[in-house]
Amino acid sequence: MFKIDHIGIAVNSLQAAVSAFEAILGENPAGRESVPSEGVEVVFFGHGSGRIELLEALGPESPIARFIERRGQGLHHICLQVPDLQAAIDRLALLDVTPLPPGIRPGAEGRQVAFFHPRDCAGVLVELTAAAD
Ligand code: CO
Repeated sequence: MFKIDHIGIAVNSLQAAVSAFEAILGENPAGRESVPSEGVEVVFFGHGSGRIELLEALGPESPIARFIERRGQGLHHICLQVPDLQAAIDRLALLDVTPLPPGIRPGAEGRQVAFFHPRDCAGVLVELTAAAD
């Protein structure tokens, strides 16, 4: 069965967004990490499934910078845990769901992830990851 691993929120400023979510949640962030492969600096709130991931662009070429330019800051993606990541990728390939880009890649926290285009996923950018042990 699936679980929501985390919800990704694109932000202009991690400093401002972290302050806001500290106030909203009444707790400090659980971790902070640079993910150059994705062009982002991320801050996580919470542990295990159902975390909040705040994403700030590392530069103007970052997908997060382009997203904010078009849509402003806000909800960016939903990350779902599936029991078998490769099986999910294979299943979606058969259905012509567009991967962004094809294949598994390293995401935050050393996890293996794959992204799928919002146009094939009811308007939502979907990140898939294998269920944590
Ligand atoms: Co994510």
